[in-house]
Amino acid sequence: MNTVNNDRGVWSSKLGFILAGAGSAVGLGNIWRFPTVAGEFGGAAFVVVYLVAVALICLAVMIAELSLGRNTQRNPVGVYKTLAPGTAWKYLGILGVITGWGISSFYSVIAGWTFGYIFKTAAGTFSNLSPDEIAQAFSNFISNPVAAIGLHAVFMTFTMLILFGGVKAGIEKWSKILMPLLLVILVLLVVRSVTLPGAEKGLSFYLKPNWGNLTGKGIVAAVGQAFFSLSLGMGTMITYGSYLSKQDNLISSAAWVGFLDTGIALMAGFAIMPAIFAFGLDPQAGAGLIFVVLPNMFNEIFLGTVFGTGFFVLLSVAAVTSLISIVEVPAAYFIDEWKLSRKKAVLIAGLGAFLAGIPAALNGNFLNWMNVIFGQYSLIIGSLGVSVFVGWNWGVANVNAEIAEGNPKFRGQRIYGFAIRFLAPIAVAALLVGLILFPDAF
Ligand code: PHE
Repeated sequence: MNTVNNDRGVWSSKLGFILAGAGSAVGLGNIWRFPTVAGEFGGAAFVVVYLVAVALICLAVMIAELSLGRNTQRNPVGVYKTLAPGTAWKYLGILGVITGWGISSFYSVIAGWTFGYIFKTAAGTFSNLSPDEIAQAFSNFISNPVAAIGLHAVFMTFTMLILFGGVKAGIEKWSKILMPLLLVILVLLVVRSVTLPGAEKGLSFYLKPNWGNLTGKGIVAAVGQAFFSLSLGMGTMITYGSYLSKQDNLISSAAWVGFLDTGIALMAGFAIMPAIFAFGLDPQAGAGLIFVVLPNMFNEIFLGTVFGTGFFVLLSVAAVTSLISIVEVPAAYFIDEWKLSRKKAVLIAGLGAFLAGIPAALNGNFLNWMNVIFGQYSLIIGSLGVSVFVGWNWGVANVNAEIAEGNPKFRGQRIYGFAIRFLAPIAVAALLVGLILFPDAF
């Protein structure tokens, strides 16, 4: 009996994976969420915690997820059914599939806003408005239910169309096309932002840690943001890892994705923080930050309408390459476990996410809740689960053997074993316990 559904797929090369993996990691999380939460939780001190989390915890978890996926060639539920049959571990995979729905639902709503802003910016809607009027225009825009749901629908449709194409012709091809352009536009924005009059205050907020500003909640937010930005904790990297070949080097692949993702998040901070202060806006403005700050900056730039339009085009593209990786998790689950065709699997996953996103499209508070529950806690719990599973159940010997495929010269077995057995689970568990014991402190 053939147990592997032929509707799975493989990357064409290691580069193909790195671009798709970076396409998944780099998204609204870097350009919308990172500056938003960094602003909310105190700037530079938050950034330091974030970087430490990426280096010490997240890379180890990413390598664990990629190893699980490549070893079993399955979706997150299938991984646990294969490696720990008959145990409750499969619920960790199911949590991932549900989280995929939870995140894709609100992610697509925000991606819809970025898509709408392409046309608004191109039409010059913000050209003659003051900062306050720009903020007002944003809140009017997102409280229009027809626009919010319509754009969410358009965005989810794009995503499903790409996913119909499958791994190589869909995900990989699209990830390769516009990511480099996003980088170019981001560099231009950074240059403009740091040279705005009054940028210094923003730079010092972003670069000089004020440890007094850092709360327990800020630490959880920073670690949660690191998992979110690197697409960890729900099985995206398990799923993408399952399309990797045995010849590929998991360590350098993970390092590339981590490097590109972190670099772009840091750059987004440089593009946004100085501008916030230069325009006298509030860094704690929350979800609307980039939709309010950037149009102000585009008004100050030579050819601002062109750059602004380009920026929202590329942000939409970055969002698509991430959203496909989120919807791919439930889709891969249906392909592997229910033996559905790719078309049917994508339809169920995508339509489900669309319906689940309607409340978030209608209500900003609901969207924030979804973001916290699925985009934060669920990923932290999922990452804790993956590190405990790999470190203690599947075991260090197995994961190191998987790493050695495609990387026979790897000598970091003991360091990696320590990171995945102790460092990652203890740090993440301590965070969660702190949160439960001292809810007020956060
Ligand atoms: N990492 C993506 C971003 O930064 C979001 C994401 C989260 C993707 C979880 C996959 C899984 O936008």
